[in-house]
Amino acid sequence: MKILVFNASPRKERGTTNILLDTFIEGASETKAEIAKHHVVDLDINGCRGCFTCWWKTPGKCVHRDDMDWILPEIADTDVLVLGTPIYGNNVTHYLQKLIERTFTFTMPEMYKGEDGETHHPGRQRKIPKVVLVATCGFPDSTPFRLAKALFQSALHITLPAAQLLFNEEGRGQLAEFLEAIRTAGKMLANGQDVPDQLREKLCVEYSEEMKKQVVEAHNIYSTQSSLRNERG
Ligand SMILES: Cc1cc2nc3c(=O)[nH]c(=O)nc-3n(C[C@H](O)[C@H](O)[C@H](O)COP(=O)(O)O)c2cc1C
Repeated sequence: MKILVFNASPRKERGTTNILLDTFIEGASETKAEIAKHHVVDLDINGCRGCFTCWWKTPGKCVHRDDMDWILPEIADTDVLVLGTPIYGNNVTHYLQKLIERTFTFTMPEMYKGEDGETHHPGRQRKIPKVVLVATCGFPDSTPFRLAKALFQSALHITLPAAQLLFNEEGRGQLAEFLEAIRTAGKMLANGQDVPDQLREKLCVEYSEEMKKQVVEAHNIYSTQSSLRNERG
């Protein structure tokens, strides 16, 4: 079983997305799965030029020579693909978008109408991995994840609003059950099992209105103190 993890936060190991990814990896590591994690910001990935060379001139091969030369074969060979991203402007980061855009080489030019009634391109011969979307955001609501969830509709969703709670002990305590659910999901996927609905529900954190109010208040106090510190130099 191969698990390939990408963290599309520029804060890499210092960020909250990485905490969730490492928690998933902790669970998966209890099995014999082969796991690799990469920080997208460290990778040399050019944006797609829209030249369609990978369709018409050199089928399946992009004109760019960069890190996607080894990443694409790894994606094509993985069983589980874990995509971690903070929400920036209600969307996934451009680091993740850049990576996804370049998987265009996996598609073939023909079009067909799928069972879902929508038009698709057939994929080139490869393993179709289970995809896990791991997203964090700063607001305490779950609405900032709407677009990301729609982009990766068939993925397993792991979402944490007000992810800054992970930076203090009290917050981590409040999220203990969520973190445990991520560990369990990591282990289950690494064992080739499906994640049951009951566990899926625990993987998307929803706060009570009271909790949201507390997050906003704590944030505003921190924000005022930071402004005062800056004013004093
Ligand atoms: C440029 C930028 C845009 C952001 N946009 C949003 C947003 O639209 N909604 C939101 O809830 N949080 C937003 N955030 C907050 C991040 O999603 C949040 O801090 C996240 O946990 C960061 O993940 P990381 O610690 O892994 O880097 C934004 C942060 C930055 C830097």
